[in-house]
Amino acid sequence: CGIVGYIGKQNTKEILLDGLKELEYRGYDSAGIALLNQEKIDVYKALGKLNNLREKVDSNTNAYEIGIGHTRWATHGKPTELNAHPHLGEYSYVVHNGIIENYKELKEELIAKGHKFVSQTDTEVIVHLFENYQNELNDTTKAFHNTIERLEGAFSILLISKAAPKKVYFFKHGSPLIVAKGNEENEVLFASSDAPLIGLANDVVYLEDGIGGVASAENGIEFFCDDYSWSTLPSSKQYAQKDGFRFFMEKEIYEQSDVVSDCMLGRIKDNETFFDEIDASIIEGIKEIKICACGTSYHAGLTAAYLFERLSKVKCNVEIASEFRYKEPLLTDDTLFIVISQSGETADTLEALKMAKNAGLKSLVVCNVDNSSMTRVTDYKILTRAGIEKGVASTKAFSTQTVVLWMLALYFAKEKNVIDNEVLQNELHALREVPKSLIVNDKIHEKTKRLSKRYLHGHGFFFIGRDVFFPLALEGALKLKEISYLHAEGYPAGEMKHGPIALADPELFTIALMPQNLLYDKIKSNVEELSARDSTICAVSPLDFELADDFIKTEKTDHYMLEFFEMLVALQLLSMEISIRLGNDVDMPRNLAKSVTVE
Ligand code: G6P
Repeated sequence: CGIVGYIGKQNTKEILLDGLKELEYRGYDSAGIALLNQEKIDVYKALGKLNNLREKVDSNTNAYEIGIGHTRWATHGKPTELNAHPHLGEYSYVVHNGIIENYKELKEELIAKGHKFVSQTDTEVIVHLFENYQNELNDTTKAFHNTIERLEGAFSILLISKAAPKKVYFFKHGSPLIVAKGNEENEVLFASSDAPLIGLANDVVYLEDGIGGVASAENGIEFFCDDYSWSTLPSSKQYAQKDGFRFFMEKEIYEQSDVVSDCMLGRIKDNETFFDEIDASIIEGIKEIKICACGTSYHAGLTAAYLFERLSKVKCNVEIASEFRYKEPLLTDDTLFIVISQSGETADTLEALKMAKNAGLKSLVVCNVDNSSMTRVTDYKILTRAGIEKGVASTKAFSTQTVVLWMLALYFAKEKNVIDNEVLQNELHALREVPKSLIVNDKIHEKTKRLSKRYLHGHGFFFIGRDVFFPLALEGALKLKEISYLHAEGYPAGEMKHGPIALADPELFTIALMPQNLLYDKIKSNVEELSARDSTICAVSPLDFELADDFIKTEKTDHYMLEFFEMLVALQLLSMEISIRLGNDVDMPRNLAKSVTVE
């Protein structure tokens, strides 16, 4: 989603539309703007591309000195014109990025007080809450403060109201928001990322969480507190779109911590996991889970199978969609059929889903794109909320998929009453720590840059691991293959001695995933066997390992899944750095497509 806002004497409408255009790369399914002139607010919304919005606004030639705009990527509520932002109360409009976790409670409260809701979005509660307080207090600043205090979740917002016709209220919590002094006199701009501001402003404040204020042409930008500092905008748009990163893949690796937080929002209640999109009926009569997916999503599925069996005590098997389709699979209706897909469009996965549906199975899709083919076909869906993923090599889609599936395993475990409360609490504690484990550790990034020089030749890579670190090894190898074009294989560590160890020599690079909290001694023996046969070993572990030729040292934590996510980031960075050093196009590797809609 994207936010823009403007106060000033230039053509407000054009500035907003141009700004939204700059945010297009983030993906959206609807867009809208609200324009304020004295006490008159005009609002335009359109489904689909920005051109549709532009066509609607074009005939309006009035001048406006204040406006807010938004591109929406549906999370709560379908992509419809009604659900598009800005959202209206009686006399105010809001645009919002994030998710209001407690919107249901607030909505009920406001409906009881006579507020009329028109959309299915969580966002609409903000504007009604504001008007509720404004009606009571007749003080827009106090009403805005009271509103913010009641909101839980993530909310970066711009709010305008006929009750304060010269002001824009702003607040950042969760999603990014920037406020800028425009180059023209008395001009103020807002945007959810740099790109729309370039060329229009130089001095900006990248708001921190919990910081907000009010802006007007007369008084400029007034912050509610002193906790902010001015910075200078970068001057290149390309650079700004990638938020200063060299590649979208790099940006997406760095984004993982934030998007996983979004993905978990509202889904961990006091002591259980919870999904708006499903209820306990999903596992009624279910004896088995079958997962089907392709590529990276398949690896998330393989990881989940360990968790479903270990935590939810339900049989789980995983199949590659293109294999499943043609093997005349035996399907029984006591099986829950789960498909995993970033895009929701992969042809083989979609067909597998249709086959399962036709065979009468209950189906669930774990997907990043709402309103995609798969989310339309399935019985149940859970969205991963990773935001648009641009890099062809998938990164943040995988981490959010894995987190959703882990939460789902705990949900089933609780519903089936097969998990000890202490174990459950321990898992939830670890889940809450995942965003921390996904924060890129500068030392590890530096290390992967240095290591990348040493791994440009050789006759191949083996990524090895056990348990969930086996699918992680597969994912590490896939990343490397995809963007470096070097040969790599993921292998179960204990299986190396049954064949692949014959390849061992100094030109065989073994990337060994050696978590502290899961089967450490077992994997250690496997690595020793390879080292004894002269394979070059790069150990990824929090524990020192004297036989390692190279070492990526991860943090000591108390849960193997936290190690899993930290190692995931290290592997993504390593393949990216190798690819960069080889001079490849990291974001658009040869021969690959982001979404494969052919079988
Ligand atoms: C393509 C992409 C992969 C992706 C796979 C499955 O091959 O290049 O990165 O993992 O499709 O895509 P999906 O959208 O179904 O997760």
